[in-house]
Amino acid sequence: MEIEKIVVLDFGGGYIQQMARRVRQANVYCEVLPYNASIERIKSINPKGIILAGGPGSFYADNAPRCSEDIYSLNIPILGICYGAQLICHQMGGKVSMEDCGEQGEVDVNISNQSLLFKDMDDIIRCRINCKGSIQKVPQGFRVTAWSDDCPVVAFEHPERKLYGVWFYPEDVHIVEDREILKNFLYNICECSGDWKMSSFIRQTIEDIKNKVGDGKVLCALSGGVDSSVAAVLIHRAVGKQLTCIFVDTGLMRKGEARQVEKIFKDQFDINLIMVDAGKRFLDKLKGVTNPESKRKIIGEEFIRVFEECARSLGRVDYLVQGTIYSDVIESGLGDGSMIKSHHNVGGLPQHIDFKEIIEPLRNLFKDEVREVGRQLGLPDHMVERQPFPGPGLAIRVIGDVTQEKLEILREADALFRDAIERAGLDKKIWQYFAILTGMRSVGVTDGDRTYDYTIALRAVTSIDGTTADWARIPHDVLADISNTIVSKVPKVNRVVYDITSKPPSTIEWE
Ligand code: XMP
Repeated sequence: MEIEKIVVLDFGGGYIQQMARRVRQANVYCEVLPYNASIERIKSINPKGIILAGGPGSFYADNAPRCSEDIYSLNIPILGICYGAQLICHQMGGKVSMEDCGEQGEVDVNISNQSLLFKDMDDIIRCRINCKGSIQKVPQGFRVTAWSDDCPVVAFEHPERKLYGVWFYPEDVHIVEDREILKNFLYNICECSGDWKMSSFIRQTIEDIKNKVGDGKVLCALSGGVDSSVAAVLIHRAVGKQLTCIFVDTGLMRKGEARQVEKIFKDQFDINLIMVDAGKRFLDKLKGVTNPESKRKIIGEEFIRVFEECARSLGRVDYLVQGTIYSDVIESGLGDGSMIKSHHNVGGLPQHIDFKEIIEPLRNLFKDEVREVGRQLGLPDHMVERQPFPGPGLAIRVIGDVTQEKLEILREADALFRDAIERAGLDKKIWQYFAILTGMRSVGVTDGDRTYDYTIALRAVTSIDGTTADWARIPHDVLADISNTIVSKVPKVNRVVYDITSKPPSTIEWE
């Protein structure tokens, strides 16, 4: 049975993923397309509804994005949000003004219960308005369904033509009513049934992989991160021993991590797993290298070399697994030239392995969905909740040149830091936390003797997705405890500092 879909047309701005995730969280599958997607492309998806979202600051700016007006003749419900609402108003013959409506931030809005969009809601709801401009006159045949003291048009609609516009973000995390509005659109207007569930995704994907792979051989590079781990377990469910995973132990992992991967995948899931102990190779290549970008490049290239060598020893493989997820796909560009960054999962493939096709079983999932799939497949919590960890590993957390001794110092300090954060019950509140071995040594005193040892820096940040971040306000007594533990337990460390810079202007990692 075909799954119900919503199309989200992306008019730019950074919040489209959040919008799409809210739709998915309401159990409706959605796909993000560029605003200028052709009508044929939209039709081929056969959506139950379309959402026009995002957008530049000014509606009347040169080159302000416009979608094809043909979408209005599809007889599919359309919800325009802020810029999207302006567009519907303008394209249907109403009047949009550059002047703000006088309401910004959280406001009380009066609604008409006659609108299906506001079904079963109170007469006055609280919304967050931060759209630019205002609707001066709704198009002919449309009616106003929400208004506030200073803003005469907060929502408008033409129910017969199934067109709806709202002047606030109906996926706002903080305002409960807003989510109800999105649900009303999805369920009462688009008549979705809510068939997007991770359990059915798992069932369907396993069946698809079985059909595609047949008795072919599948190869997966396991990093221990959430995406590759979930992808591996999912494929294993479908093809069992036809899957081989390779874990390249770069020697740059955190304390106990390589062993943990082995325990889970080999012992718990009984997956064919090859552990390649390549620590020495990586250290040799990194010897004397201090430039962060050079380190990254060397590690990336060496990783591919080791992986290729190991894979070649397996003979011909038919499929190579990639842990690409939907945010990677969106961030790598939707095909309209709006690329934000090229993602390391897209590209960077080994060139010397002969394989027929790439399988990307998580390509359509957001991170929270990937985690849910992992949980349902039986992966332990610490694995599905794992914080982001850079591909180059601890090499970019040892400032300057990397040596075995420095890695061991960092591994110990990092493990103690992470343990203390967990014991203080802060692990779910902080987005990412880790230790850095700074390239600095300084004078200290231990048991009356002068020392000249390393400084460990602690980094802990709150963030939504890592693009911006703030330093976490860890209580002073917790910091004091961590500092005491590190200097007393880790040899060659006599000073601990806490990084109190946000991103920007800093980055989360130090290199
Ligand atoms: P920055 O340091 O750029 O980090 O603020 C943002 C997020 O990305 C992670 N990061 C990396 N991940 N390879 C990766 O796979 C890398 O080279 C890399 N550098 C940074 C970082 O840990 C943070 O979560």
